[in-house]
Amino acid sequence: MAQHLSYTRASEALHLTQPAVSMQIKQLEHSVGLPLFEQLGKKVFLTEAGSEFSRYAKAITTQLDELEQVVNEMKGLQRGRLTIAVASTANYFAPRLLAAFCQQHGEVTVSLDVTNREQLLKSLLENRTDLVIMGQPPAEMDLAAERFMDNPLVVIAPPDHPLVACEHIPLERLPEETFLVREQGSGTRSAVERFFAANQLALSTAMEMSSNEAIKQGVEAGLGLGIVSLHTLAMELALKRLVVLDVVNFPIMRYWFIVHRSGKRLSLVAQAFQQFVRDESTRILKIPAA
Ligand code: PGA
Repeated sequence: MAQHLSYTRASEALHLTQPAVSMQIKQLEHSVGLPLFEQLGKKVFLTEAGSEFSRYAKAITTQLDELEQVVNEMKGLQRGRLTIAVASTANYFAPRLLAAFCQQHGEVTVSLDVTNREQLLKSLLENRTDLVIMGQPPAEMDLAAERFMDNPLVVIAPPDHPLVACEHIPLERLPEETFLVREQGSGTRSAVERFFAANQLALSTAMEMSSNEAIKQGVEAGLGLGIVSLHTLAMELALKRLVVLDVVNFPIMRYWFIVHRSGKRLSLVAQAFQQFVRDESTRILKIPAA
């Protein structure tokens, strides 16, 4: 109506009858509380309120069009946000996966949370993340998990440690050493504890540390031995700062899973990333050689 300034032309454009248009205008004026149009002779004009109303209505329509475009782009995967949380240990490879994925999907924004296993389970429970990369999730939680890569845990020592020269070190030798262990809540930590308990060995812990980096630094400094994922060791092994000991029955084999809540409706981006991990992780990621 504001465009045509004529009841006849507006009703033609809207495919409505003239009384229907004039009734809608009356209702609108009633809810605004001011007249939007005035008729002088045969001509219809916008009042001051009418022209403000028309200006805002145009801006809102433009915004809605834009929103529709953004949603369409999201549907087409051009844009969209991937919220992912990974275990501290998985952070040694997850950024490489994300980088390769983002190269294929330029406008995807990623929010990456790096935390330990316990916190990951919490964020799944609270539905704060689309996908999680973690060790085997607990069976009692209602989660969909797909295994995609090995995660071998190995014993590390500084290069001058007496055990470095030994082959086939028996498990029974381990209780004579002290270990630096990860914090409570870490998947690595509980796997190590389970392994020692299953083999009826006492685990003597020198210190508890809240990151793999701290454990590696501590082992290098001679504070004790460590048991960490091979994924964390690429640099230290290449620079010969740490050595993987040849202990019988090692590595402790864990696996990496990509996980989400069962029944969660994954966004297109999240589905695409899940597929990408399925198809590409073995090509992109290499586990360092001990
Ligand atoms: P973490 O998790 O970094 O919490 O130890 C790794 C895993 O679950 O193996």
